[in-house]
Amino acid sequence: MLLNDEAYELNGRSIILRSATEDDAEMLLDYIKTVTGETRFLICEPDEIKYTIDGEKAFIKSHNDSDSAMLMLAFVDGEYAGNCSFSRIHHTRRGKHRAEIGIALFQRFTGFGLGRLMLERLLQVIKEMGYEQAELTVHSDNARAHHLYESLGFKDCGRIPNASKFDDGTYSDDVLMVLPMSEVKYISTWV
Ligand SMILES: CC(C)(COP(=O)(O)OP(=O)(O)OC[C@H]1O[C@@H](n2cnc3c(N)ncnc32)[C@H](O)[C@@H]1OP(=O)(O)O)[C@@H](O)C(=O)NCCC(=O)NCCS
Repeated sequence: MLLNDEAYELNGRSIILRSATEDDAEMLLDYIKTVTGETRFLICEPDEIKYTIDGEKAFIKSHNDSDSAMLMLAFVDGEYAGNCSFSRIHHTRRGKHRAEIGIALFQRFTGFGLGRLMLERLLQVIKEMGYEQAELTVHSDNARAHHLYESLGFKDCGRIPNASKFDDGTYSDDVLMVLPMSEVKYISTWV
């Protein structure tokens, strides 16, 4: 699914939300290597990123061509700030009503409401597409993300103990969260 350029203003900063193009592939590769090093809350360590430019182009194309997934980039005053996305969890008739969400911003673009704006817009698209629920996984020690998801209506629905083991030998649990689309009512304020 494609998202054409959308302009917003947030705390005096200009925001553009849009889909990626294949020309963004190198930027996305640099981004994923950086953000995985900035926080413990993502899927892996930077040295485990083995993606290639061609792989990124294929990833972008698969989201843009899909009728069930979308990749949304955010730019703050013209600078790339991060992205969020959703995709169908299962393509079977039993599972195709469930969308899975992911989001990560560069640290310097966190904490001023951008994550909320992006997720509200993403959830609006998810709802319009007819999905019945949005789901995500968050590390148990990621208080900021958990607060944001709860404030958007997501509720805890399960927990996997010690789901992530870090290089220093410590662990964190995965908290599973779900949001029924029937409860999404706030998002029309943005568009
Ligand atoms: C998680 C993330 C997407 C949130 O986006 P963001 O733009 O920073 O979040 P926002 O500014 O829109 O909202 C953050 C909310 O958390 C609150 N918050 C900030 N720090 C907090 C903390 N330590 N504990 C609890 N709440 C906190 C803020 O007050 C705000 O809530 P409010 O709007 O009710 O005041 C972003 O911080 C990020 O990409 N982090 C690194 C990667 C990551 O953790 N990804 C999520 C993986 S599940």
